[in-house]
Amino acid sequence: MDEANTLQALLRAATIQLGSAGVPPARVDAQLLVAHVMGISRSELQRLAVLGDTCLNATQQAQLAELVWQRSQRVPLQHLTGVAPFRRLQLRVGPGVFVPRPETELLAGWGIERLESAASRLATHVVDLCAGSGAIALALATEFPGAQVSAVEREPEALVWLRRNVADRRPSAGFRVEVVAADATAADTLAELNGTVDLVLSNPPYLSPDEEVTKEGLLDPPSALWADDTGLSVIEAVAARAAVLLRSDGWFGVEHGENQGDRVRALLHSDTWRHVETHLDLAGRDRFTTAQRL
Ligand SMILES: C[S@@+](CC[C@H](N)C(=O)[O-])C[C@H]1O[C@@H](n2cnc3c(N)ncnc32)[C@H](O)[C@@H]1O
Repeated sequence: MDEANTLQALLRAATIQLGSAGVPPARVDAQLLVAHVMGISRSELQRLAVLGDTCLNATQQAQLAELVWQRSQRVPLQHLTGVAPFRRLQLRVGPGVFVPRPETELLAGWGIERLESAASRLATHVVDLCAGSGAIALALATEFPGAQVSAVEREPEALVWLRRNVADRRPSAGFRVEVVAADATAADTLAELNGTVDLVLSNPPYLSPDEEVTKEGLLDPPSALWADDTGLSVIEAVAARAAVLLRSDGWFGVEHGENQGDRVRALLHSDTWRHVETHLDLAGRDRFTTAQRL
């Protein structure tokens, strides 16, 4: 056995290379890249690493070297593995689509709890405005089977990934997702549903034009990140659209930046909305705001 080709040695070398390139967290990313190359889970990799007698073959080593180099250039991990975890899902992602973030799982979870606490499960209609890879729409559709979910996305490149992720889950029982290629803020988008929708969720672009992102974030599409008017322009337009789509007593939830909670609440006027509330993420920062349609 060549010691340099053992799992432990390759993991150690990859961790050092990623660490010196400033990749956080280097060890986790090294493990995920090695696991990807070997076609196994991270927990299985950890088990094999403890046993100590596994080696990578020449092809796997070459693949790993290329992936570690790309990651050290700050290509997002999810672009290299081709998938992003989101709640119970593994979503396909790559160039042209926003990589779903863990904090958005909270908004999706809130939406699922709303549906579960509703009196009736019949004919539930959910709309995800600014759907990207489909993270929110697909979490709702798979964790609340039977709901009719409309996933609205405008950008052609993102739509390719959205359609792929929807196709991956079709046909499964109770799975009902419709992809809508349209501007989420336009009055004619889903106009046939006006006044009938139970729940509208959205994670729109909300960064202020002067806000900087990580090197990895620069590979997200700009239209997924930045919005005019200190980042509030799409949130405001999406809230206006949600007010028209929702039935009376229907619910709206929108993700936003940690410094936007007060301004988003101020957009949700009391002549249209009640129970306006900003929710915190696990780090205690403002993360999303919800409201019920009057
Ligand atoms: C922050 S990403 C969120 C994607 C996904 N909902 C998620 O949470 O991972 C915002 C998405 O909104 C899309 N978008 C931006 N403006 C839009 C508009 N006016 N109509 C529809 N989609 C829009 C972008 O293309 C991008 O996919």
